[in-house]
Amino acid sequence: MSRTATIVGLQWGDEGKGKILDGLAGEAEVVVRYQGGGNAGHTVIVDGTKYVFHHVPTGILYPGVLCAIGNGTVVDVPALEVELDELRGQGVDLSGLRISSRAHCVLPYHRALDEAREQARGSAGIGTTKRGIGPCYADKASRTGIRVADLFDPPRFAELLRRNLDEKNAILVHLYRTKPLEFEPLLDEYRRAADAIAPYVDDTAALVQAALAQDKRVLFEGAQGVMLDLDHGTYPFVTSSSASSAGVAAGAGVAPDAAGRVLGVSKAYTTRVGSGPFPTELHGEPGERLRALGREYGATTGRPRRCGWLDLVQLGHAVRLTGTRALVLTKLDTLSGYGPLKVAVAYERGGRRIDTLPADARGWEELTPVYEELPGWEGDLVGTTDEAKLPPTARDYVRFVEERLGIPAVLVSTGPDRRALIQRGEVTGF
Ligand code: GDP
Ligand code: IMO
Ligand code: MG
Repeated sequence: MSRTATIVGLQWGDEGKGKILDGLAGEAEVVVRYQGGGNAGHTVIVDGTKYVFHHVPTGILYPGVLCAIGNGTVVDVPALEVELDELRGQGVDLSGLRISSRAHCVLPYHRALDEAREQARGSAGIGTTKRGIGPCYADKASRTGIRVADLFDPPRFAELLRRNLDEKNAILVHLYRTKPLEFEPLLDEYRRAADAIAPYVDDTAALVQAALAQDKRVLFEGAQGVMLDLDHGTYPFVTSSSASSAGVAAGAGVAPDAAGRVLGVSKAYTTRVGSGPFPTELHGEPGERLRALGREYGATTGRPRRCGWLDLVQLGHAVRLTGTRALVLTKLDTLSGYGPLKVAVAYERGGRRIDTLPADARGWEELTPVYEELPGWEGDLVGTTDEAKLPPTARDYVRFVEERLGIPAVLVSTGPDRRALIQRGEVTGF
């Protein structure tokens, strides 16, 4: 199983997984998305051209790579159709794409419910992407979901749609006082969108299993990040899937050991979109300055990202949970000129030092990070590929992080472009 690797986000998403995956996909034969859906936004920049992937695996930029949207994902079929049209318009060859017939469909009532629930919660909302992710995974767990395969059995699809729509409309109208969704337009829209994706629909688990049996090089592409994981993140301020490496087996349809070497991606600082705990968040001017330096606006919703210091307690949790063997540190260039840098090395709660994460909301409110301060650096690091060219304090920062986490930082990213990478050690092990 040495020819597989998994790329996971170690923070709250947007760590730069897309860029890293793209940097590695040239070596891969198969890339698989195993959870999440249109809530993801993975950005790749190639010679100034920007590609943003929501459903499609990032490996699609390499012709010949089989790119599977796995059974553990949720697919908004009309939105996927738009995404495919955009990629085609950018000249991307989609012939390697495969969509699992077992993936669940996000339907307009999921988006309507997501939106209505967020609105009803007001300031206590999760701050979801409103892409219908939570309601769709809820239907999957409730065994009322509609899967991609169902789209190709028109009578069954119509029956499932009718039944679900009746239930969701009752909730939308009577509980949330919104307008009901109409059956016929929805049916037509999905029939048309189903035709558009039909050439790509397949049994992706069987395809990936076959690739593994042939000892092919397979990359599993995580979406979101550990802190948004349904079980191990900052619940309830999480997404509704297993965003850790543990999601690979169920979400791709492979044995647990197929995940292979886990590469954990972290920014050199921390960001989060949406609500929920964020102990090292920088408020006011310092946070805004970091946001401006890092251009921290969401790739899916365009929302400003909350920004803060690197948090080694949080990262330690993520590394242990995912079995991360090698760290990828992104956006080191962003910290240039920011000044002295703080890194949280522990938390304090009620006068006691702790190095684990609380499970309860009060626990998060009551803790304060314990920081160590490191010197910053000046100068433009963008595009640096040679570690020797980094300012000594930037090198020390990377070393500090890898030593405290106890894993090597094998890749350091120094800019959004595909080539802006410093390789410091063995990456995939392929
Ligand atoms: P993902 O969801 O983990 O794939 O990350 P996103 O694409 O949502 O957000 C990461 C953002 O940072 C994107 O705009 C990337 O182009 C950009 N990015 C990635 N790596 C670097 C880096 O090393 N330096 C800089 N300056 N930008 C980066
Ligand atoms: P990538 O793959 C950052 C966040 C939302 C919200 C919470 C729940 O690009 O890293 P959801 O719509 O999933 O129900 O929202 O999760 N969120 C993300 N934040 N990057 C993502 O994906 C995210 N996907 C969801 O902002 O706080
Ligand atoms: Mg993103």
